[in-house]
Amino acid sequence: MNIIKNIKGTHDILPQDTKRWRNLEKIVNNCCSKFGFEEIRTPIFEQTNLFSRSVGEQSDIVSKEMYTWIDRDGTSLTLRPELTASIVRSFIQNSLGWKSPIQKLYYMGPLFRRERPQKGRQRQFHQFGIEALGSEFPEMDAEIISIAWNIISECNLNDSVTLQLNSIGSKICRDKYKEALKKFIAPHLNKFSETSQKRFTDNTLRILDTKSQEEQSILKDAPAISLFYTKEDKKHFETLKTLLKSIKIPFSVNSKLVRGLDYYSRTVFEFTSSKLGAQDAILGGGRYDNLVEELGGKPTPGIGFAAGMERFLIAMTDYKEEPRIDIYFANITEKGLPISLLITNQLRKLGFRVTSDTLRRSLKAQMREANKMGAKHIIILGEEELEKQLFVIKDLNKSEQINIPQSEIIKFFENLTI
Ligand code: HAM
Repeated sequence: MNIIKNIKGTHDILPQDTKRWRNLEKIVNNCCSKFGFEEIRTPIFEQTNLFSRSVGEQSDIVSKEMYTWIDRDGTSLTLRPELTASIVRSFIQNSLGWKSPIQKLYYMGPLFRRERPQKGRQRQFHQFGIEALGSEFPEMDAEIISIAWNIISECNLNDSVTLQLNSIGSKICRDKYKEALKKFIAPHLNKFSETSQKRFTDNTLRILDTKSQEEQSILKDAPAISLFYTKEDKKHFETLKTLLKSIKIPFSVNSKLVRGLDYYSRTVFEFTSSKLGAQDAILGGGRYDNLVEELGGKPTPGIGFAAGMERFLIAMTDYKEEPRIDIYFANITEKGLPISLLITNQLRKLGFRVTSDTLRRSLKAQMREANKMGAKHIIILGEEELEKQLFVIKDLNKSEQINIPQSEIIKFFENLTI
C-alpha cells in the first residue's frame, strides 16, 4: 500500500525541533510583553476579498500564491497568506480603536503561500509579527523597529543581519513618483522582462524590486523617490533616522526598497540575514496609514512587521538543548510499581520533570535511558530496596550515590529546590 505523505512545501515539526520552536516563541512573547504589546489570534481562513483589497490584486501573493476555494455557499475563501489584513479586519470589526487610542498587538501562527519550495521557503510557513494601530508619528516606527532589533538580539542574530530602510512617501508623493519613473523607463521598456513590463502598467514601483542585473543597471540612473517627498514625508523619515541612530540600531537607506504588498506608505524596512541562502529576508514591515480606511474603518494610521519563524530557526545555529527531564525513576520489580507511580507524581507536583520506565527494562537499560534524557538524578527501587524500605539515589552530575529511607524522599528533593 502507498504510504500517505505530507504535501509539498509543508513540514512536520518533530519532537527534536519543537524545543527550538518553543524557545523562539518564548523570546517573542517576552520581548513583545516588555514593550507592552498584547497577543491577538485570528482565524486561519478569511474571505478572499480581504486580501485582494489590502495586499493588492497585482501583488505576487494575490495574483499567484493564494490557496483559494469557493465554499458550499458560493463565498470565495482563502487560507491567510499574511496577517496584517486579518488584524486590521479584526481591529475594525471589534472596534478596538474605540477601546484605546493606540492598539499594540502581536501574533504568531501559520500562513499559506503557493510558492516554489526551497530552503527557507515553504507553502505552509509561520510568522511572528506585530501591528501598532493609532500613531502616525515616527517614534512609533522607531519603537516597532526596536522590538524587531530586540528579538533579533535575544536570538543572537544581531551580528549577522542587515537592516535596510526606506520611505516610499505618502500617496501624493508616490503618484508623482510613479509618473516620473514611468517617464524614465519608457524609452528602455523593450529591454525589460515580461514581468517588469507588466509591472510597468499595473504596479510601477515594484519594477524597482527586479533581480535582473541588466534592469538594475538601467534603474541605477532612475530618479530617487526622495525627490518627490512632501515636507511632512521628509520630516517623518528624517526624525525616524535620527531616533534609530540615538538608540544605536544600525541601518542603511535603500531607496529601491519598495516591498511587495500594496498597503505600504512612508516607512518600509527589511532585515536580511547572512546565515540564510537565497531566501535571506528574515523580517519585513512598514507603515500602512490608509489600510484601515480602505477596509472600511475610521482613518487610523498603522505600522508593523512580520518575520519568518522557519528562517529565524535556520539562522539560530547556536541553540543549546535543555535536558529533557530532571529525575528518572528506575523501578525494577512489578511489586514496586505502586510506589514508583506515587513518588513520580509527588515529585512532579514539586515542579520536577520526572519519568519512569514503562517497558519493564533492566536497570542497565533504564540507566542508559536516564543518561540519554539528561536526568540529574536517578531513583532506584529494586527487590532489596523494597525490602529495606529505602531508595538509592544517584546524582549523575557528581557521580555519587546515597541510600534514603522511603519516607524521606520528598523532603530530600524539596530541599534540592531551595
Ligand atoms: P512579507 O515580507 O510578505 O510581509 O513576509 C514577512 C516575512 O515572512 C519574510 O521576511 C519572510 O521571513 C517570511 N516569509 C514570507 N514568505 C515565506 C515563505 N513562503 N516561507 C517562509 N517564510 C516566508 C508580510 O507578511 C507583512 N504582513 C509584514 C507586515 C506586518 N507589514 C506590516 N505589518
